[in-house]
Amino acid sequence: MGFRTLDDVDPSGQRVLVRVDFNVPVEDGRITDDTRLRAALPTIRDLRAKSARVVLLSHFGRPKGERVESMSLKFLTEPLSKLIGAPVAFASDCIGKAAMDAELALGNGDVLLLENLRFHPGEEKNDPEFVRELAILGDLYVNDAFSAAHRAHASTEGVARILPACAGRAMQTELEHLEKALGSPERPVMGIVGGAKVSTKLDLLNNLVGKLQRLAIGGGMANTFLYAQGHGVGASLCEKELADTAREILETAKAKGCEIILPSDVIVAKELKSYADHRTVDLDGIAPDESIFDMGPRSVKRVLDAIAASRTLVWNGPLGVFEVPPFDKGTAAAARQAARLAKAGKLVAVGGGGDTVAALNMAGVAEDFTYVSTAGGAFLEWMEGKTLPGVAALEDQ
Ligand code: 3PG
Repeated sequence: MGFRTLDDVDPSGQRVLVRVDFNVPVEDGRITDDTRLRAALPTIRDLRAKSARVVLLSHFGRPKGERVESMSLKFLTEPLSKLIGAPVAFASDCIGKAAMDAELALGNGDVLLLENLRFHPGEEKNDPEFVRELAILGDLYVNDAFSAAHRAHASTEGVARILPACAGRAMQTELEHLEKALGSPERPVMGIVGGAKVSTKLDLLNNLVGKLQRLAIGGGMANTFLYAQGHGVGASLCEKELADTAREILETAKAKGCEIILPSDVIVAKELKSYADHRTVDLDGIAPDESIFDMGPRSVKRVLDAIAASRTLVWNGPLGVFEVPPFDKGTAAAARQAARLAKAGKLVAVGGGGDTVAALNMAGVAEDFTYVSTAGGAFLEWMEGKTLPGVAALEDQ
């Protein structure tokens, strides 16, 4: 893994284009989680301390190449300026006169946020002309948006190939931890993969069985594997048409020496609601009108033992319906075990993906994990073993 960082460049007095991911969750015009703003702070502070002129680039939503006022980034200047502790200027366009004029007004150490990149079709098309118009705004390019690095867009890939480029602090931390988890991890390496559907995680499973020593499969997707092994799954969520695919994954795992951990007992209920009547059964005890909503205690113990026997854990997706108690028990127990061992320095525990972050937060253990990635699609593609264009462009510098 070779990429330059902020330690390898001298941004003093330079116009530095910083690609951040300010695609924050918003409800009724209010930010519900400002993690992505805060993630950019170390880079912004570092650049300001080195007297750079900081020009922030981001997308927000999917305006599809058109100016959509409700997707303007202007509303972020105030919360951002509070976090930074300094004014944040705003330009009503990310290229052209508006951007240039705003940039000309910057002094060393000042911060400017440009309007939503995706108001221009050239951004997502990685159009060379749009890349050029962005690039003339900067002397140096810093990518601090791992969560957008799976997109080969002008601001994530194109500009990095024109301007001198390096990784920002958040990108650097993310890549260093991901390298520790799957690039050159300490063995044995275990994976936990859960979530509703096998169909959305085929590439991920196929990549992981070739790399890990053990893999626990939970959530709705485990039902498809159980069905493929000939077990009745009652009324559970199950992609029966993927039974052959599931069997192939199990065969590949066996051939590559990856132990697959599937539930051997489960928690079932007739309806999914908080504290619904439920029971713990072996796999042959699921009634036709019952659905599996969590792993049973024997299976959870097996997962906990497997975590304890591993040196590295990479986790994507909950083991049960963690949002609806008591079906959160399996996920919470595994999360606590991983956090405890990570805190004690016995395990490198890395988790990521939307639901995973929510599940680890629910268990109250995210802080004790070695690293929790808030990237969604980018984290999945990384777990699938794919090259992320935004990262590749930094590595090719
Ligand atoms: C995200 O929120 O995962 C990133 O900002 C990428 O957004 P996108 O899926 O619209 O490209």
